[in-house]
Amino acid sequence: MPTLPTLDTPRLRLRPFRADDAPALVRELGDVEVARETLSVPHPYAPERAQEFLARVAERFEAGKSVVWAIVESPTPEAEPPARSDGSTAALIGAVGLEIVAAHRRAELGYWIAKSRWGQGIATEAARAVVAYGFDTLGLHRIEAHHYPENPGSGAVMRKLGMKHEGRLRAKVWRDGVPRDLELYALLASDARG
Ligand SMILES: CC(C)(COP(=O)(O)OP(=O)(O)OC[C@H]1O[C@@H](n2cnc3c(N)ncnc32)[C@H](O)[C@@H]1OP(=O)(O)O)[C@@H](O)C(=O)NCCC(=O)NCCS
Repeated sequence: MPTLPTLDTPRLRLRPFRADDAPALVRELGDVEVARETLSVPHPYAPERAQEFLARVAERFEAGKSVVWAIVESPTPEAEPPARSDGSTAALIGAVGLEIVAAHRRAELGYWIAKSRWGQGIATEAARAVVAYGFDTLGLHRIEAHHYPENPGSGAVMRKLGMKHEGRLRAKVWRDGVPRDLELYALLASDARG
């Protein structure tokens, strides 16, 4: 596994997570409207959860099992944005990554965006760069993604990435005490090249 590179897109920088992202994670993932659409982010989101997340991201990257980036604003030409007084990174606006199943050259795409930045194309722009990294650098053959039927905005992101809807998986996950369906989307390397 190579070092996780920084990926730049027209408006965004995708960089490895750092220890000082913890306060921003707590702030942004603490919003129930973000947390409830994910498979596993708990609510409320305690500071220890952020520490666990950062440790798990590092461990799984070392083991070749995942690649996860912090999404921040593109730096201005002069300098990186200054750190905030709470020690967090000023411009942390989300996360995007791939959970890799190396034996099958397959990965699952996941993302979340800070609520204050929804509807600006950020998830699509960030995920497009990560999908390209998955196919071109990791040599993946298939990238999947799932969303709850009640979260159509995420399905819109998947379609904008060129992913195809493959079906609804009934009662696929158990979340907050109830079984939940998931919509399954996927993109093959051959679709992406075409
Ligand atoms: C889903 C999420 C990642 C989208 O992030 P975003 O940066 O706002 O996404 P984008 O702006 O790139 O695209 C959103 C698209 O959804 C569409 N959309 C939003 N709400 C919608 C709704 N209720 N029904 C249909 N489409 C909707 C938008 O119109 C947009 O499509 P368009 O560009 O064609 O107009 C963000 O809302 C989020 O983080 N939600 C909570 C966590 C989450 O859902 N993570 C994904 C789990 S599968």
